[in-house]
Amino acid sequence: MRFDIITVLPDLLESPFAHSILQRAQKKGLAEIVVHNLRDYSSNKQKSVDDYQYGGGSGMVMGIEPFANCIEKLLVERKYDEVIFMTPDGKTLNQSMANELSGKENIMILAGHYKGIDQRIRDIFVTREISIGDYVLSGGELPAAVLVDSIVRLLPGVLNDETSALSDSFQGELLDAPVYTRPADWRGHRVPDILLSGHEAAINDWRHEQALERTKQRRPDLLE
Ligand code: ADE
Repeated sequence: MRFDIITVLPDLLESPFAHSILQRAQKKGLAEIVVHNLRDYSSNKQKSVDDYQYGGGSGMVMGIEPFANCIEKLLVERKYDEVIFMTPDGKTLNQSMANELSGKENIMILAGHYKGIDQRIRDIFVTREISIGDYVLSGGELPAAVLVDSIVRLLPGVLNDETSALSDSFQGELLDAPVYTRPADWRGHRVPDILLSGHEAAINDWRHEQALERTKQRRPDLLE
């Protein structure tokens, strides 16, 4: 699966994809993540990408031309299943959205800054607008990284133990049960005996009860 991300801060997106699972996915050839510097598509001498907004108001707006130049170049190279704009007024990302997007081949992601981007970019090119939550960040780069991470870890072969993505919180209707590792006793704080019992069926029952209890306490909305 391929991602093309368009941003004015390509450096910000170097690190999130250069470690751990996302790095391994790229090394294995399961995901390709290409970051494009929007300034390379500005035709003026200063390489600026923003301008004052029509009608007045504070804050600069990212202009149509650099985005259009970059998007149109990419559209010639391959067919995109989605052109996604990261924005707090988009639809909130959830697990089922990540699952759905993990079935696509090519996704383009636009990361905005300043006051926003010219509405015509959204009208003409964007097929989906996604928010990562009801709070405002200073740009779309971190949201783009969150979106890509949520998708790439679902691609077959990316996680060592494929079932571990399937048993994530939100993948079913329940949150995850608590997990423990050695030592079995740390300063008197003991791992629940059941987990040391070796009774697989009883352990599975216990995990299910714990998951249910946690969901009731923390996210009753998921049970409705
Ligand atoms: N850009 C700024 N804040 C954002 C958010 N919460 N989600 C997606 N994109 C954003």
